[in-house]
Amino acid sequence: MKKIVLLGYMGCGKSTIAQNLSKITNIPFLDLDKIIEERAKMSINEIFEKHGEIYFRKLEHEIFVELLQSDENNIIGLGGGTPCYANNHELLKGENVDSIYLKASIDTLYNRLVYNKSKRPLIANMNEEEMREFIAKHLFDRSFYYNQAKHKVVVDDRSVEETVQDIIQVLT
Ligand code: S3P
Repeated sequence: MKKIVLLGYMGCGKSTIAQNLSKITNIPFLDLDKIIEERAKMSINEIFEKHGEIYFRKLEHEIFVELLQSDENNIIGLGGGTPCYANNHELLKGENVDSIYLKASIDTLYNRLVYNKSKRPLIANMNEEEMREFIAKHLFDRSFYYNQAKHKVVVDDRSVEETVQDIIQVLT
């Protein structure tokens, strides 16, 4: 069964784009972060606080593997860090996987995250200056993993609808 896997840094628009892609293609969307929260019966913030990041990464890996193995065609939206842990980046290259890196610039990410950081434990307590520097370094560190995706779609200055069309084009 085919899996369309959307990945990219926090704030690149994975969930919104996946929801729209799902409506247009009629392929069900699975949001990895949401499924983790349902399984753990707590929010991502609470998982980080109570059990720490390593516990979160383990759960994230197990559930990602499980979603890839299901018998359905799906769109799977990853968390921003998913490709960067537990060799998850190798799973982006699987035969039945169409992985797409939604690539955004530091400016785009900063502008989207600056008012929207409270649910994201990695940046929740940073001020604006710290956040900009963190995003720049972190994105650089993570790029190796994101670039393992089979396809890349640039989201800067593109509407959600335009990005969905860009995705459909790279998949056909
Ligand atoms: C994370 C991104 C989050 C979530 C967790 C860790 C990361 O997902 O999985 O807070 O390491 O970048 P989003 O990219 O959907 O915000």
